[in-house]
Amino acid sequence: MKRILKMLGIVLVIALIIMQFFRPDKNNGGYESFTLFEKETKVSGEVLSILKKNCFDCHTNQTRYPWYAEIAPVSYWMNDHIIDGKKHFNMSEWNSYSVKKKSKKMDELIEELKEGEMPLNSYTWIHGSITKEEKEVLIQWASMAILNYEEALKVSLK
Ligand code: HEC
Repeated sequence: MKRILKMLGIVLVIALIIMQFFRPDKNNGGYESFTLFEKETKVSGEVLSILKKNCFDCHTNQTRYPWYAEIAPVSYWMNDHIIDGKKHFNMSEWNSYSVKKKSKKMDELIEELKEGEMPLNSYTWIHGSITKEEKEVLIQWASMAILNYEEALKVSLK
């Protein structure tokens, strides 16, 4: 029994070492891509700092990686969240969204905040939670952005 456990331990260590050679691509496309979103939704300095602190890492093309993100399997796990987060809502690819979709995403953003779904729990354990006040600021800002998009939709229908 002891020998089997020892063998298993060795296999596990080897597997962990091999894993380190396979690194997911980094999400480091830069922040410039964020400018359209910033302009259209009228991101204030305050909103920007809240988004930067709580949302950018999974919803733009630029992630700030902590040191432990270099270690597999943490790196795989984080990469999955980033890919999944960007697939659902990417502030860096705003140009690829229709007006209708933009408005819907801002609506979902409010929904996620109200339900306490965002940022993901696994993120807030490490980075700290978003405060109630910060949520309020984001909800106010997103509501204004929705109004503007709705207005634009109405005009385009005329
Ligand atoms: C650790 C990564 C991570 C962080 C940080 C994060 N999100 Fe997300 N977000 C995700 C993932 C993964 C999904 C897709 C799965 C889901 O909806 O739970 C998502 C989905 C979303 C969606 C789309 C919902 C839909 O129905 O399409 C919105 C909007 C969103 N997040 C907003 C935010 C906001 C605002 C913040 C900051 C306050 C934030 N997220 C922080 C990972 C993250």
